[in-house]
Amino acid sequence: MSDIEDFTPNLTADGSFTFVSQEFGEAFHSHYGAKQESFLKFAVPTQLAKSAHKPILRLLDVCYGLGYNTAAALETIWAVNPSCQVEVIGLEINPSVPQKAIAHHLFENWDYKYTKLLSQLAFEHQVQTDRLQATLLIGDARNSIQQVNQLGFLADAIFLDPFSPPQCPQLWTVEFIQQLSLCLHNNGLLATYSCAAAVRTALLAAGLVIGSTPPVGRRTPGTVAAHGEASALPPLSPAEKEHLLTRAAIPYRDPQLSDSAQIILMRREQEQKTCSLEPTSRWRKRWIEDT
Ligand SMILES: C[S@@+](CC[C@H](N)C(=O)[O-])C[C@H]1O[C@@H](n2cnc3c(N)ncnc32)[C@H](O)[C@@H]1O
Repeated sequence: MSDIEDFTPNLTADGSFTFVSQEFGEAFHSHYGAKQESFLKFAVPTQLAKSAHKPILRLLDVCYGLGYNTAAALETIWAVNPSCQVEVIGLEINPSVPQKAIAHHLFENWDYKYTKLLSQLAFEHQVQTDRLQATLLIGDARNSIQQVNQLGFLADAIFLDPFSPPQCPQLWTVEFIQQLSLCLHNNGLLATYSCAAAVRTALLAAGLVIGSTPPVGRRTPGTVAAHGEASALPPLSPAEKEHLLTRAAIPYRDPQLSDSAQIILMRREQEQKTCSLEPTSRWRKRWIEDT
């Protein structure tokens, strides 16, 4: 992982900025709006405004990046209950990403009250105040997650925000998501922007139930997952359910949580070639090209 990338702020449609990763060939956020995505794909689907009445809330921010998802979460929680004690663990491989977000003053156009806390987290990787205990674990999330498990940390909300599955398959595998499910409280919610069938199958394989979050800007919905009853989550449409019966639903696998992206992609391709599931192109023709 290179930390010498020259992250230049890119304007998105809601007036907030994001970075573009040369290494992963992708923007860190949707071009429809980086700030909007943090609220609508992460803070809202994990129902933080509703759970903010609790005395303590624990958040696990997987792929902390610029810190937008944590920022949106803190704003949402403290707007409802300023005395809620929040514990945050962020996982991020590249420490210069959150630092560059602060150096470029990217929270200025959020009119954000808690930039000082995020700045301390970016540079010192630790914040302790009367209502926030936050730690940024720097390293491959596949290793850091095991540390989180050992701490017995049980999150009320998990934000799963890696680059897309084809670019960063190692953080969308059945095995990694199993590790995440161990850190999710029985009543907690995991949210991700992805609606990829492979991601949804991995969430199901990890023993979670899934729901669909409304599309925001992008044409596609996101996904919310939990232990327990799927009926408590916004249901998948008939097309989304059928998507899970096609080849696209073969999940990524990484048995030892240590394979390269290339190996993980190849392993899935092999499995897709030999499976008897319907080709996804046929599903697409039925549900998407006809609309
Ligand atoms: C889509 S961006 C996340 C955006 C972020 N959530 C935000 O709100 O700004 C993906 C992030 O994952 C980080 N990343 C990539 N591979 C990783 C890995 N194996 N472990 C932990 N973080 C990783 C990248 O450095 C990048 O910051």
